[in-house]
Amino acid sequence: MKLAVLVSGSGSNLQSIIDHVEAGHIAAEIAVVFSNKEDAYGLTRARNHGIPTAVIQHTEFTDREAFDAAMVRALQEHGADTVALAGFMRMLTPVFLNAFPMRVLNIHPALLPSFPGTHGQHDAATFGVRLAGCTVHFVDEKMDHGPVVIQAALPVTPGIAGDDLAGQILRLEHRVYPQALAWMAQDRIRLDGRIVHIEGS
Ligand code: GRF
Repeated sequence: MKLAVLVSGSGSNLQSIIDHVEAGHIAAEIAVVFSNKEDAYGLTRARNHGIPTAVIQHTEFTDREAFDAAMVRALQEHGADTVALAGFMRMLTPVFLNAFPMRVLNIHPALLPSFPGTHGQHDAATFGVRLAGCTVHFVDEKMDHGPVVIQAALPVTPGIAGDDLAGQILRLEHRVYPQALAWMAQDRIRLDGRIVHIEGS
């Protein structure tokens, strides 16, 4: 599997993916780390590990489709066949998704379908849930919507600050995203409509 990891920020999930690839837990090569922001710290993490990087700023494009087409070209130039969104803060259009059919995963910091959107952990804390968690899912055209590959949950301390809960969830994310990518690399993921089956488990 030749993986492209897309980041817009810190890239702590990227770091976890890099560490698991280097440890031999994911049978993949990270072909490229891509960002729509040239100052994303994730790019520095990639360079520290000798991984190729690419940057295209979405602000240079007037429409989403043109930006997506440029991204597809950049990722395919690096030979990527699978895409992991890791804190990538852009919606993807069919121009992108059709280039990597059912090969695009995302991690979301809440137990979908609860709390989609950009502040899932904080929304969960404010709502007062007793269980929180994260979700790895296939990406489709709707936000935080595609078939669920894996979820992990943790108990919530009543009244916990949103930032503290976000930190706990992030540590969980660092464990489940590599697991989902390992299954992907082993070609063990089968889809039956929205239902994901992991072969051999
Ligand atoms: C994570 O919480 C992820 O679930 C969300 O964006 C955040 C990215 O964090 N999609 P990082 O850049 O991997 O540290």
